[in-house]
Amino acid sequence: MVDTSDEWIVSRTGIRERRIATDDMSCADMAAEAARRAMTSAGCTHEDIDLVICGTVTPDYRLPSNACVLQEMIGFPNAVAFDVVAACTGFINGLSIASAYITTGQSKRALVIGAEKLSSITNYKDRNTCVLFGDGAGAVILEGSDDGRGVLSTYMRSDGSLRSWLWIEKGGSRHPYLPGVSEEGSDKILMNGSDVFKVAVRAMGAAASQVIEDAGLTPEDISLFIPHQANLRIIEAISKRLKLPPEKVYLNIERYGNTSAASVPIALDEANREGRLKPGDNVVMVAFGGGMIWGAAAVKW
Ligand code: ACO
Repeated sequence: MVDTSDEWIVSRTGIRERRIATDDMSCADMAAEAARRAMTSAGCTHEDIDLVICGTVTPDYRLPSNACVLQEMIGFPNAVAFDVVAACTGFINGLSIASAYITTGQSKRALVIGAEKLSSITNYKDRNTCVLFGDGAGAVILEGSDDGRGVLSTYMRSDGSLRSWLWIEKGGSRHPYLPGVSEEGSDKILMNGSDVFKVAVRAMGAAASQVIEDAGLTPEDISLFIPHQANLRIIEAISKRLKLPPEKVYLNIERYGNTSAASVPIALDEANREGRLKPGDNVVMVAFGGGMIWGAAAVKW
């Protein structure tokens, strides 16, 4: 499709494979599958959920939210459902919001999903981006507890002045995309990769350090670090800053590439199913994405 090579992609990004959804599989379809598996894993039913948050920038429709589409698909009769538009940090923002709802008594049991069909907004003629992105979904169920486990701390920040470093220029209400008039590809992701790279390392490193400190922990207390899987070199640079040994850093970028909001929950789920999370383990998740926006969460598993 573009002038690239497997050697360039693997050495610059760590990505070997990606998953691309079929035309008839939508973002909400993937979200529904993840939600069903999370409910099975948590041993709860759709009726137990009173809050549904979906982190995504690729909803099935511009209106309504993906979370409402999902509500219709699965049926959450007792829930409020809405999306969080925060690019790759959508899941961590959702986690932070759900934790606040539960802590303040507004929710008893929340479903937080990260789901993306990035292939629908990827320009497959742009080698700067088309080798990076994949599709997928992941989900968690959160509920209150009084045994000290759960979300210990979260930290979220953004800087809208950097928005054009990673954006879709046309197709919104400010600049509608006009086929034949608008520049080709301007309705797809455009990214200034090298500048994003530098800010991502700095911002994710700072966010992770902050949640570790806010949770009253030190990097040595962290059992597993689950970073957004955007670029292996970014992950290595942050891990080095935090002085985390490789065995404490979860990686699956090789198989999925960057799945934006789905990246962290997919990795969390795989780590759990591989038996890498034990009750009481301290887990730190961190992400960074278009906005620019970044955030982290420290969780006692
Ligand atoms: N194949 C071959 N060459 C390529 C490719 C490719 N697929 N893509 C870019 N190049 C070329 C560039 O054109 C450039 O060539 P030039 O020097 O002749 O101009 C050269 O490779 C180096 O380009 P850089 O952009 O400096 O490459 P870099 O080492 O920075 O890697 C990458 C690029 C992988 C995109 C990296 O910058 C990156 O991962 N950035 C961060 C991405 C990220 O974290 N995004 C945030 C989340 S995404 C979201 O929110 C949806």
